Amino acid sequence: MIKQESIEHLKSIIDIVDVIGNYVQLKKQGSNFTALCPFHSEKTPSFVVSPAKGIYHCFGCGASGDAIKFIMEIEKLSYPEAIEKLASMFNFKLEYSSKNNFLNIDLLEKVNSFYESKLFTNQNALEYLKKRGLFESTIEKFAIGYAPSSIEQFKFFKDAHLNFEELRKLGVLNETGEYPRLIERITFPIFSQNGKIIAFGGRTISNHPAKYINFTNTSIFNKSKTFYGLNFAREHILRSKKIIIVEGYMDVIMLHQTGIQNAVATLGTALTTEHLPILKKLNPEITVAYDSDNAGINAALKAAKLLYKEYFDGGVVLFAEGEDPADAVKNGENLDKIFKEKIPFSSFIINFTLKKYNLKNPIEKRDAINEIKSYINSLPDILKEDFANKTAPYLNISPNLLKAKTNTAYQNLNLNKKIDIAEAGIIKTLYENPQIMNSVVEYLSSAMFKTHSYELSAVYAENFEDARVLEIVLRDDIKTLDLVTLKNQIRKILIPYYQNKILQIRLDPTIKGEEKLHLLKNMNLKLQKIKKGEFVEGISSI
Ligand code: CTP
Ligand code: MN
Repeated sequence: MIKQESIEHLKSIIDIVDVIGNYVQLKKQGSNFTALCPFHSEKTPSFVVSPAKGIYHCFGCGASGDAIKFIMEIEKLSYPEAIEKLASMFNFKLEYSSKNNFLNIDLLEKVNSFYESKLFTNQNALEYLKKRGLFESTIEKFAIGYAPSSIEQFKFFKDAHLNFEELRKLGVLNETGEYPRLIERITFPIFSQNGKIIAFGGRTISNHPAKYINFTNTSIFNKSKTFYGLNFAREHILRSKKIIIVEGYMDVIMLHQTGIQNAVATLGTALTTEHLPILKKLNPEITVAYDSDNAGINAALKAAKLLYKEYFDGGVVLFAEGEDPADAVKNGENLDKIFKEKIPFSSFIINFTLKKYNLKNPIEKRDAINEIKSYINSLPDILKEDFANKTAPYLNISPNLLKAKTNTAYQNLNLNKKIDIAEAGIIKTLYENPQIMNSVVEYLSSAMFKTHSYELSAVYAENFEDARVLEIVLRDDIKTLDLVTLKNQIRKILIPYYQNKILQIRLDPTIKGEEKLHLLKNMNLKLQKIKKGEFVEGISSI
């Protein structure tokens, strides 16, 4: 273990600009530095380093932290590994504590044996567990116990000669060492992957306002890196290449009891990036099976976003409203069927993100698009394409619109403006089928549009993020035209335009003889072609 003082000393000498400057090219801007963000791809810099604050922040993807976090993220290192890397960068000699935080973790086994013995003297607690549907063998397997009154616990700690300071460090006693953390609660020991008890969670059976109390993090327990039940599930996960992630202790326990032994739980926290290394090692297909309440669905959405981004296969299952996996087991539901019907991560993200918006309302639709875009922006390049293509049909827009970087004009769209439906239809069609633009531009110039000539020239210039263009392409009431309709619409604009042109030339006294004939011949030729629909050539369908 690296000594904390040593880490603090290192922190005080490292210069974040030096550190980050090794990885990206920084440019000074006022008192800060900017760069292209190394954590997502971008063309204009939104990554800022503040030497005064010792932090970096990316306004594009939201990545932020201090120098240590930067090294962890960019080098994919753990916290101590990042510290070591930084120390070597700055030629700093770290000090290690020789006694590798030698907490006697066997104390937790002793405490648990005591809690287990207490369960069998407490009818209430036993009744409760039976009522929840737990078999006696399950109670034994998961080593569930009961934490009695504070007095009883202290008596045991004294009689068994347990060291109070160690009990405090292990989390059995609260921070000040005055109380046991769990009092009059059912206890669930939390195991490390190889089956050692590293912490406890406790559930009230007397309607205490805190339904569950879990140990806070200690030097041997980090709850955002721990999966409850993984010690039992590990080999089943490796064999089946599948894992089920649930919310709570009871869910894991009931699923295992019913034979679904690849279930684990995050401990009252959402799935975090810190859980990912464990998942990557196991590399399973992942089923997220959270409670079907609002909190559960939101947590599932967060988990799905995180897992999809990290290339995991899998999906989310939804239980009946308000139900969780433990209830589903108890209610005898067909779990095989429920787990088979999981919604792939990408579909789940799309559906549950868009669900919040009324897509018929252009303003809300724009907000939905913005939310999807910001997620797409955070994705690795390979996934950007896939996700934009999958989402575009739900929004009835071109995937390009989702892949484009957000620009500020885009935020100020005025979607309620009056528009010319015929011209707008042509613009939207060209926007979504840029390959036909070359043949159209020969005939149709922006000057021929009465209302939207600005937008047409913007599309011709491929300014696909122009706010006024977006105002048109985002509207559901403007339809993308098929080839025949497109030609007809263009013809309706072109025929009167050329007829008028021809008339003007005829009457123009400044154009003489040969020239006039030549011009008129050209114009007539064009007009004939237009009448026959011989433009937008070489493309049979769009
Ligand atoms: N949790 C917590 N603190 C709370 C509520 C929940 O730490 N106040 C954690 C626990 O790990 C719990 C998980 O979040 O297991 C899921 O919460 P919930 O669904 O409320 O718990 P259940 O296990 O379903 O609870 P119950 O015993 O009522 O079935
Ligand atoms: Mn629950």
